[in-house]
Amino acid sequence: MSGMDSLESTLAALAARFDDALAGAANAHALDEVRVAFLGRSGEVTAVRRGIGTLPPAERPTAGKVINAAVEAMEAKLAAARTRLESAALERSLEDSIDVSFPGPAANIGAIHPVRRTAIDVARYFTRHGFAVVLGPEIETDANNFDALNIPPDHPAREGLDSFYLRPDLVLRTHTSPMQVRSMRKHGPPIAIIVPGKAYRRDAIDARHLYMFHQVEGLMVGRGIHFGHLKGMLLGLFRELFGPWADVRFRPSFFPFTEPSAEFDVKCPACDGQGGTCRTCGGSGWIELGGSGMVHPNVLRAVGYDPDEVTGWAFGCGLERIAMKRHDMNDIRAFVENAPGFAAGLA
Ligand code: PHE
Repeated sequence: MSGMDSLESTLAALAARFDDALAGAANAHALDEVRVAFLGRSGEVTAVRRGIGTLPPAERPTAGKVINAAVEAMEAKLAAARTRLESAALERSLEDSIDVSFPGPAANIGAIHPVRRTAIDVARYFTRHGFAVVLGPEIETDANNFDALNIPPDHPAREGLDSFYLRPDLVLRTHTSPMQVRSMRKHGPPIAIIVPGKAYRRDAIDARHLYMFHQVEGLMVGRGIHFGHLKGMLLGLFRELFGPWADVRFRPSFFPFTEPSAEFDVKCPACDGQGGTCRTCGGSGWIELGGSGMVHPNVLRAVGYDPDEVTGWAFGCGLERIAMKRHDMNDIRAFVENAPGFAAGLA
């Protein structure tokens, strides 16, 4: 065997041992030990290099090149192993620095709009008592919105509403009351319905007014229906919506389509009816929620009911109003501003 052949097999055996040592090096320190043992000044390669002197002079340059190539290969493998170890260490340190018990960012999930939530809760109460939920058109004839409700064209009550007219005979309904008319025309007595929905008035926008808002209408007509039934139903409703402490009072009022008429208030939850300097109720101790009364005989006649046979009550109430009180809000505009997290962030 020539000197070159034996040099080459020595280098091959050495490379194999180098590979094994490298594979067993688990950290930077171990890696350095491998480097010193093979490539260091008194390492294995240096020992082989010394052997060049024993070769015939003609073979020495080639032997030098072969050894240099082997050294380069080993150095490349060392560098690769170093990179591999470093990124594994980084990976481990990242794992250690993540506190898996730390609360994550809140998921950006939606919530039911508080006005709809209130409408759903109102509907749940009334349907449990045998009422039907009906919906009607937001574009109404002025005949249904006004005339059939005992508001003739020259009636001052029309002026106060400042309506949006689409045509001389078509209006964006100013209240949900025209559905009293539509429902009674469609079904004979007895009738018990509620009507949640949008209503429109040409109001300037401020903390308490929007030109589009929601109402829920209630109507119950039959033999022997009286005001006490209305009072009982509303008291039950507001105890369910606000809590068992809730109290309702009625104040004499006027609506052309009810007689007698009354506005109803709920006792202020913030001051328990004490008033004084209470900001929630403005000091009155009560919060105005809507209008009500006994259905006017003229309205019953207009839909073909006989006021000598049947009587009934009706009420109409703003849903934003209720929702604001339930969630302790003080600006109605928040309902339509679409701020992210608005509904989820309510009390
Ligand atoms: N429609 C009236 C309003 O919008 C409220 C109301 C409804 C009054 C039913 C009496 C009976 O103000």
